[in-house]
This record gives sequence, C-alpha cells and structure tokens, in this order.
Amino acid sequence: MRSRRAVWTVALLLSLAIAAASARYLTFDPTTYFAQQRDVYVDRQTVLGLHIGGAIVALVLMPLQLAKSLRRRLPRVHRALGVLYVVGVLVGGLAGLALATTAHGGVVAGLGFTGLALAWLATTAAAVQAIARGDIPGHRRWMIRSASLTFAAVTLRLYLGVASATGLPFDPSYVTIAWLCWVPNLLLALHATRRGPAAPRHAAALVSASPRP
Ligand code: HEM
Repeated sequence: MRSRRAVWTVALLLSLAIAAASARYLTFDPTTYFAQQRDVYVDRQTVLGLHIGGAIVALVLMPLQLAKSLRRRLPRVHRALGVLYVVGVLVGGLAGLALATTAHGGVVAGLGFTGLALAWLATTAAAVQAIARGDIPGHRRWMIRSASLTFAAVTLRLYLGVASATGLPFDPSYVTIAWLCWVPNLLLALHATRRGPAAPRHAAALVSASPRP
C-alpha cells in the first residue's frame, strides 16, 4: 500500500513539474520555445497553444482522477474533473495530431507522435463509451490506458534528459523517443489491465496507485 502511494505521489509530482514547465509556452514568447522548432512554432502559435493548453489540463487532472480516495469521497468532483480531462485530451490530442505533421525528426518522429495522438484519443473515447453504458470496470481499464499515454509527456522529457546527460546525439534520440515515450507505457497499461484470473492483482499493483482514504 505504501509503495502504491509512493508511485502515485511520484507520478503526481512529475506530472505537475512537466505541466508547469510546459506552461511557459502559453506566454507565446518564442525565446521559451524548443530551439530546433522555434520557427515552426512561431508559424503555428494557435495550434501550439491549443495543444499545450489542452494537454496541461489532462496532465494535471490525470493523477487526481486515478486517486481512489477522491473517486470514493467526492464522486461528483470525479465526474466533473473527468469531463474536463476528456475535453483536455480532445483539444490537446487533435492539436497534437496537427503538430505531428511538422515535428522535429521528420516522418518517423511525426508518425510516432501521430500514433500517440490517435491512441490517446481512442483510449479516452473508449473510456467515455464504457461509462456511458454503465460499465465501470471497462471505464477503469480504458482510463488507465489513456492515463499511461498522458504520462508520455513525462516519459518523453525524462528520456530526453537521459539522452542529453549520456551525450547521445540529439536528432536520432528525439526520433527514437517519439516512439519510446508511449509504446512501453501503453504495453504496461495493457498488461496491467488485461482480463483473466491474474488481472486484478497485477492491475492493482501497477496502476491503482492512489492514496488511501
Ligand atoms: C499524449 C499526447 C500528446 C501528443 C500526441 C503530443 C504531440 C506533440 C507534438 C507532435 C509536438 C511537436 C513536437 C515537435 O515539434 O517536434 C508536441 C510538442 C509539445 N508538447 Fe505535446 N503531445 C502530447 C502530450 C503532451 C502533454 C500531456 C504535454 C504537457 C502538458 C505536452 C506538452 C508539449 C510541449 C511543451 C511541446 C513543445 C515542445 C517541447 O518543448 O517539448 N504534450 N507535442
């Protein structure tokens, strides 16, 4: 239980840190932009602002929505924040899809981000469909998968930090990380939420990381 709480706390802190770091883009000051893409972002400020605005909402809300204590104690708040999370994913994901066409690293990186955007939108839509038909276990499974993709914003920046600290060349690292930031997250979430006799135990251990009421 303590380890679950620790995992949840680390995920919360990392999500808040990346959301705070990303918020600088909302000043639309080109000197704060990712240097290799500065000219592209100056040309695409609206789509960039929509992406980062929507994605920040989703990233900040994701750990809160996973917290069992909030779901149990304040179900209405969980529902209201859930609607906001879905709007954040929709806006951030559609704008992310548009940004993927001009991503640094060319077609291979662009396809990585396109796959991430489509998977993010699809898993979130499946979670909404599940709750609309009253399927709470299905809603939980799809939201865990959606959350693993929201967390790609954190893993991407962690891996870029490791690549830079270990002196790996930036461009090939960036292309690889455009895929690496989300495919393992999704595979882990799919494994943790698979159906079958062993599923509840694994899912609980890996992703029901929430503080105790
Ligand atoms: C999970 C789905 C997401 C997709 C598909 C996605 C897609 C993209 C794409 C294609 C770019 C442009 C990259 C380039 O120009 O090379 C980008 C940039 C960016 N995204 Fe996302 N993104 C996602 C989630 C997030 C989240 C959750 C955040 C954090 C709040 C975020 C923050 C940013 C920032 C700050 C940039 C500007 C580049 C940088 O400084 O790293 N994104 N995103």
